[in-house]
Amino acid sequence: MRVREAGWRDLAGMARLEAECFPVDAWSEGLFWSEFAQRPQRAYWVATADDADGTIAGYAGLSTAGEDAEVMTIAVGPEHRGTGLGARLLDLLHETAAAAGASGVLLEVRADNEPARGLYATRGYQLVHTRRGYYRSAQGAPAVDALVLRKELTR
Ligand SMILES: CC(C)(COP(=O)(O)OP(=O)(O)OC[C@H]1O[C@@H](n2cnc3c(N)ncnc32)[C@H](O)[C@@H]1OP(=O)(O)O)[C@@H](O)C(=O)NCCC(=O)NCCS
Repeated sequence: MRVREAGWRDLAGMARLEAECFPVDAWSEGLFWSEFAQRPQRAYWVATADDADGTIAGYAGLSTAGEDAEVMTIAVGPEHRGTGLGARLLDLLHETAAAAGASGVLLEVRADNEPARGLYATRGYQLVHTRRGYYRSAQGAPAVDALVLRKELTR
């Protein structure tokens, strides 16, 4: 698996994986485009498989606009999960945030997203706020809380 900075040519592959990873409220290719347009206050990384096509296996993005950096997104394709790739991408975001001089890193996660909450717990994130009923759910299901988590960066 190779991890490198994302480029414009990765947009379509990222949007495809996004739709697979986030069945509700997936970002469009246009939204990724507008994120990329905000560089250098955004940093996006992609992990590519070692196949001939360099298929995108995961990606992660960070905003370094504020005093605290913010995880904009992180996703790993279903067939690559549980292999340490999510943790590798998250660690890279932390290094990027520290290099940009951030004091900490914020993110938002659905309360029912156990894999993501597990990942963030391993990296020392702590709950700072709960937004009640913030996330939409699949048809008919009740809305889900958003948890705002923060990790202090040690310098
Ligand atoms: C969340 C996500 C990025 C994790 O990626 P991953 O590559 O599978 O994670 P890793 O293999 O690096 O796992 C790192 C740690 O996360 C936790 N974790 C991973 N999968 C988990 C699961 N299914 N249940 C509970 N904890 C889990 C574990 O603590 C794990 O450490 P361990 O392997 O030592 O036990 C992945 O599940 C994903 O893309 N989900 C869909 C998109 C998403 O929800 N993104 C987050 C939005 S906030």
